[in-house]
Amino acid sequence: MDPEEFRAAGYRAIDWIADYLGGVDRYPVLARVRPGATRAALSADPPEDGEPFDAVLRDLDETVVPGITHWNHPAFFAYFANTGSGPGILGELFAAAFNTNSMLWKTAPAATELEELVLDWLRKMLGLPAEFRGLVQDTASTASLVAAAAAREAVPGFDVRIRGLQGTPGAPRLRLYLSEQAHSSIEKAAVVLGLGLEGVRKIPVDGEFRMRPDLLARAIAEDREAGWLPFFVTATVGTTSTTSVDPVVPIADVCEREKLWLHVDAAYAGSAAILPEMRGILAGCDRADSLVVNPHKWLFTPVDFSAFFCRDLDVVRRAFSVVPEYLRTREEDEVRNHMDYGVALGRRFRALKFWMVVRHFGIRGIADRLREHIRLARLFADRVDGEPGFVREAPVPFSVVCFRARPDDLAERVSEPAVAAYLDGLNERLMHAVNDTGRAYLSHTKLGGRFVLRLAIGNLRTTEAHVRRAWELLRDHAARIDSETRPDRL
Ligand SMILES: Cc1ncc(COP(=O)(O)O)c(C=O)c1O
Repeated sequence: MDPEEFRAAGYRAIDWIADYLGGVDRYPVLARVRPGATRAALSADPPEDGEPFDAVLRDLDETVVPGITHWNHPAFFAYFANTGSGPGILGELFAAAFNTNSMLWKTAPAATELEELVLDWLRKMLGLPAEFRGLVQDTASTASLVAAAAAREAVPGFDVRIRGLQGTPGAPRLRLYLSEQAHSSIEKAAVVLGLGLEGVRKIPVDGEFRMRPDLLARAIAEDREAGWLPFFVTATVGTTSTTSVDPVVPIADVCEREKLWLHVDAAYAGSAAILPEMRGILAGCDRADSLVVNPHKWLFTPVDFSAFFCRDLDVVRRAFSVVPEYLRTREEDEVRNHMDYGVALGRRFRALKFWMVVRHFGIRGIADRLREHIRLARLFADRVDGEPGFVREAPVPFSVVCFRARPDDLAERVSEPAVAAYLDGLNERLMHAVNDTGRAYLSHTKLGGRFVLRLAIGNLRTTEAHVRRAWELLRDHAARIDSETRPDRL
């Protein structure tokens, strides 16, 4: 593709994307394809000869787009809704154009330094301590894995880096702690690090889904007694199911007393600390050893961009750095070579997209939009609270509402197994019915064993009208499904 051909195709691609983003709500939010359909509609073999861009665009329109679930749709309310914003998309374009690999400072000085700079911007935006140093990871899952590996490296007298787990016979077994509501990525980290799922202890939560620090302290004492070596605690600010916030201050007290690494998973909700009125959500996080927040969740940055902060990046380097001769450089004593701080050698120029997002919106612009998402979520929660056939299942500290349909005349009998099973089925059917309309997409979780719907607001194009429409769909379908499916005996 010579520069002129690139220019012509590029203008068309940008026009295509601008039209797409401007009219994304004309698509069904959730792809309607059956498993295997996209693949079956495309050539099973690579082309022998190159094809014109037109042919590729045609397949994109006719086959790829129908298989897209539109995360950029204003009625995408599932999981943690997000936005690949215009400035973020342009950042991705430049990153691909430069195609730098920031494994070493020398191979990508600007990418390395811009990464350090934008994470320092984010640190200041969130009010985190000056000692925290940042590093961009692809996902929060990777960031938490890196945190747990560093914490293990910091355990005195446990030289797993050199001796490996097998080479340390008789060593105490390591254990990490998280709440019952923490994200599965922490358990995955335990699996990857060879701690096994037995090396994970889940601490019960209170009535509002927050970790119980007293039970954390008790679990650690019991485990020490039983010969475990506690080393790592994850507190979550904004859990995945309900966005509950663990009490980080008393958890930090336990970690300090017990000399454990405190990691804070603020992947979704950490961004809200940009709002002065929400700063309190990170209370105690200044005492953490590491923290992760995902701009690709709620800061309008296209996937993938996860910000990992650590009080002592030297420990991370000790855990991961292996430098062969061909990666030695003259500057290595003066700079951070980012390959030394994680699993991957090669690294994309991710900082560019976040830099462009922050420069485009400014702190004020970002804060205004987050505030609006929180307002919309409260509005939806008010609708749920005011409707006799629905019930809210968790507090709404941010932009996610957990709720379920619960017909009025069944409310008092929810503990009866037949009623509980009917309500689970009703809510599951309701979710599928609404999602099948293509006009909204919600996801679910289980709380206390019950099937619960989640409505998450995080897309820049979502307006009050979209939220109102989702509510009307839910209300109408709930009434219809209840009248069509309720057994006579209930
Ligand atoms: C609290 C929390 N932590 C971690 C993750 C994992 O994020 P990622 O997809 O960036 O690995 C999620 C994903 O939703 C999450 O909600």
